[in-house]
Amino acid sequence: MIDVADVQPAGIDRFPTRRQLPPERLDSLSREILALKKKLNAVILAHNYQVPEIQDVADYVGDSLGLSQHAAKTSAEVIVFCGVHFMAETAKILNPNKVVILPDKDAGCSLESSCPAERLKALQDTNPNFYTIAYINCSAEVKALSDVICTSGNAVKIVNGAPKDKDLLFVPDENLGSWVMEQTGRPMTLWRGFCYVHVEWTHTSLLRIRQQHPGAPLVAHPECTKAVRMLADEVCSTEKMVQFCKTNPSQVFIIATEAGMLHRLEKECPGKAFIPAPTDHCRCNECKFMKMNTLEKLYNCMEDLQPRIELSPDIIRRARLPIDRMLEISARA
Ligand code: 13P
Ligand code: SF4
Repeated sequence: MIDVADVQPAGIDRFPTRRQLPPERLDSLSREILALKKKLNAVILAHNYQVPEIQDVADYVGDSLGLSQHAAKTSAEVIVFCGVHFMAETAKILNPNKVVILPDKDAGCSLESSCPAERLKALQDTNPNFYTIAYINCSAEVKALSDVICTSGNAVKIVNGAPKDKDLLFVPDENLGSWVMEQTGRPMTLWRGFCYVHVEWTHTSLLRIRQQHPGAPLVAHPECTKAVRMLADEVCSTEKMVQFCKTNPSQVFIIATEAGMLHRLEKECPGKAFIPAPTDHCRCNECKFMKMNTLEKLYNCMEDLQPRIELSPDIIRRARLPIDRMLEISARA
């Protein structure tokens, strides 16, 4: 069995921005959250990038695809969404009659903010033959303007299933879009948005860590740049990272995605070690938006049933169609 201390220097906090709760406070807050969950008939859904203490009280932890699939089928009356705003919005679109809350309503996403609906509409108006594929990291208004939604976990399948006689427009992540073009061979017009976290990794920073750990596979998210993806042994969504690391015989992996992922990987792959890929200039592999959610805010939002996601019936109706199309294509063999 690998000793984690052999590959990770001691004393480095993986989550430098996190305010650590004293253990007794952590325990009592976690217990109160679980009691409130029962009382409210609520389900807690958490993205893989949430802090460990939130992942540990969640009913389901996963990637954007798994989270939307869970949101689509839950029978709970209240959905507590621990992720960023667009993810909670997607849960609301799928459950218009349920209460959907999130710990911090300001938990945004650089991809979402790069693509305002009016600018997308203006581009769509230049070509009536566009078929718009929107990465789920976008607002409900952008979803409402799109033909189909995709996540990093199903983007290749969605693009392969797109009508052959259409001009594909992929928004808002240029890096994911270019990776999907490489995988499918389908040309697409790409929106020039990016994830501010995933573009921090560079070819040089990854080459350096690969040289230090020559046998360790590099696993990277498709939001990384091509210069990083070309060094990776596996490029995949956060959920597929779990499957890859479970089944790959290596005992050590280099992970190029947000730091929250390491907790999930360590839980699912006991005995294996995960090295966070270093960036060039900073320790910035944390998404400041994902990390706005804390265990205390989670408790408060359940206690107050606020902040709530509210969307107009028209947006819900129009945004639902491309999400349902994605879920239907995803379920195909
Ligand atoms: P996944 O769907 O792969 O979890 O990615 C979501 C995300 O926001 C990546 O930055
Ligand atoms: Fe958005 Fe990047 Fe944060 Fe994911 S990691 S939520 S893409 S800003």
